Amino acid sequence: MSDTRTLRIAMNGITGRMGYRQHLLRSILPIRDQGGITLADGSKITVEPILVGRNENKIKDLAAQHDVDEYTTDLDGIINDDKTDIVFDASMTSLRYGTLSKAISAGKHVYTEKPTAETLDEAVDLAKQAQAAGVTAGVVHDKLYLPGLIKLRRLVDEGFFGRILSLRGEFGYWVWEGDVQPAQRPSWNYRLADGGSMTTDMYCHWNYVLEGIIGKVKTVTSRTATHIPTRWDENGQPYDADADDAAYGIFDLETPNGDEVVGQINSSWAVRVYRDELVEFQVDGTHGSAVAGLQKCVAQARSTTPKPVWNPDLPVTESYRDQWVEVPDNDTFDNGFKAQWEEFLRDAVAGREHRFGLLSAARGVQLAELGLKSAAERRTVEIPEITL
Ligand SMILES: NC(=O)c1ccc[n+]([C@@H]2O[C@H](COP(=O)([O-])OP(=O)(O)OC[C@H]3O[C@@H](n4cnc5c(N)ncnc54)[C@H](O)[C@@H]3O)[C@@H](O)[C@H]2O)c1
Repeated sequence: MSDTRTLRIAMNGITGRMGYRQHLLRSILPIRDQGGITLADGSKITVEPILVGRNENKIKDLAAQHDVDEYTTDLDGIINDDKTDIVFDASMTSLRYGTLSKAISAGKHVYTEKPTAETLDEAVDLAKQAQAAGVTAGVVHDKLYLPGLIKLRRLVDEGFFGRILSLRGEFGYWVWEGDVQPAQRPSWNYRLADGGSMTTDMYCHWNYVLEGIIGKVKTVTSRTATHIPTRWDENGQPYDADADDAAYGIFDLETPNGDEVVGQINSSWAVRVYRDELVEFQVDGTHGSAVAGLQKCVAQARSTTPKPVWNPDLPVTESYRDQWVEVPDNDTFDNGFKAQWEEFLRDAVAGREHRFGLLSAARGVQLAELGLKSAAERRTVEIPEITL
């Protein structure tokens, strides 16, 4: 047992949707219950969560329900506790900068939900703080750990596409207004004053997806819309939904070998789904194309590409979808959040950088900020490189 190290993780915001379901229930508790993870040298690390929240009864109940020994309402106390190794935050975005700053200055490794801050200045400042303190910092980039996107990235690495030409993404579904049927997302998502906005919510995801699949994002041209101006809240009361509920973006991308790629992603809470999954990305290249969702990925090689001929006078005689082949898993995929947690824990014990750190997160906040600027000014905005 002497070669098993236990990492104590203060988990803030675990009563929330993401904190509870993805991070506690599907990541940290399964890692604990499987007996931790084995490192390359054969030693083991395991985890001990400490539940942190404002409502003592709530966290006490959760602790009892999941066999967790420790819980506290004293966030500052647990951050400064010598026995705490990692501080995790899935609380409200507006509180994140303060929590992470305190944790970094207490010398703790930090792992956090996105976005890391409400402004680019704060997001960059956090990255600087972590770099100066030499702690390991990780930010949730869950989409890149999903089977569909793992397989899409594998096709890029295999050179399947030849020269990549374009990426198009389609994301969204119908979010009910809340008058007759209750809405399936929280009302704050649709109020600007509460930090709601499709752009703020999704562009930080799209930044790491674009970087992770294609390469750097060089410019953004975005058009936002508030398609549904009135919605009904959790109490059945109407409110002004003044945040953008859709964002239509075009991105100039650059691959690591300098090729220019055109990216386009439509994101909308006011669209009805005629797709196989709630998000799908299509990549087209000179030698092949692929379409990936969260789980599935299909591909069509140049050599098996049909030759459609435009003739609007005749009905369609071939099934275009049947002309694609499914990319096999060739692997077993764990829950994406858990997989990233395990990678982060390995990095934290080794004291090395996590591949998705606070600088990557700052670029996500930057894309959202400049996406909104592009929409407000109705123009293409260049994305300057952030240096620490
Ligand atoms: N990675 C993803 O795909 C993804 C998806 C959704 C949300 N998120 C991010 O996760 C974070 C939480 O989102 P959520 O949907 O779980 O929200 P939520 O509203 O369900 O949870 C928020 C948590 O913060 C706590 N909290 C709220 N107000 C607080 C206050 N004043 N003081 C202290 N704690 C407070 C709540 O008790 C709860 O634990 C957000 O930053 C959001 O951007 C990420």
